[in-house]
Amino acid sequence: MIYKTLITVIALSMTVISTGVSAAAEGNAKAGKAKSGVCAGCHGADGNSANPTWPKLAGQHASYIAKQLADFKGKKRSDPLMSSQATGLSEQDIADLSAYFAKQTGSQGAADEKLASAGAKLYRGGNKKKGIAACIACHGPTGAGNPAAKFPGLSGQHAPYVEKAMKDFRSGARSNDMNSMMRNIAEKMSDKEIKAVASYISGLH
Ligand code: HEC
Ligand code: HEC
Repeated sequence: MIYKTLITVIALSMTVISTGVSAAAEGNAKAGKAKSGVCAGCHGADGNSANPTWPKLAGQHASYIAKQLADFKGKKRSDPLMSSQATGLSEQDIADLSAYFAKQTGSQGAADEKLASAGAKLYRGGNKKKGIAACIACHGPTGAGNPAAKFPGLSGQHAPYVEKAMKDFRSGARSNDMNSMMRNIAEKMSDKEIKAVASYISGLH
């Protein structure tokens, strides 16, 4: 099962790498910093948002940030607060902003001890009976993700944001995940499981 998942992941990664090279302007972090003032209000000047329902961007892979900004701009992902922020961004702006936030250091969180052990079990082993794939296969043992495959880093992300993201994948409100990779997983998860894994992720580093 895990073996099969890994094969799928590797195959998917290869597709992403081979199709992803041509695009993308070269990002300049310094230029990105100059353009990031408007983002700071919600995501924090260094990409560590104060409001836990808004995602941290600090230390996130530039490739993943750029994909999300392009998705918001192209209306493949939508959010009442975020969508309008991406509308006016050029390809160069997206590359520069992604380079800037990727270079910042993500702040650490702390997992709720009561939830973390159930969360750790799911993250590391999935749930075979329910067919939930282990998160570790794509997001890595420390939550570092995989920049070439655009698998986001999750370590230290705010638990309430992770919980919202999982519920959005589950309901289909968020559907910009390639090959339904996240929707297929989230649809099998209960509220309790989502809460536990979100808490574990917030303390992961
Ligand atoms: C008014 C508040 C607000 C502002 C200003 C804002 N954002 Fe956001 N942003 C959000 C919210 C809220 C989300 C989460 C949307 C969701 O829940 O799906 C988000 C999500 C994102 C994501 C996806 C992160 C992930 O982990 O998937 C990126 C990337 C992003 N914003 C970049 C930016 C950049 C770059 C700017 C400045 C040009 C910016 N944002 C300005 C509120 C804001
Ligand atoms: C087969 C690979 C794969 C597996 C397994 C996987 N993920 Fe993901 N995950 C992804 C991809 C790809 C994305 C980015 C989707 C996109 O482009 O928007 C993602 C995105 C996410 C996000 C949104 C991050 C953000 O910043 O908005 C969360 C949260 C998440 N995954 C949690 C999990 C959890 C929890 C598990 C295990 C229960 C898991 N993932 C298992 C591939 C995977």
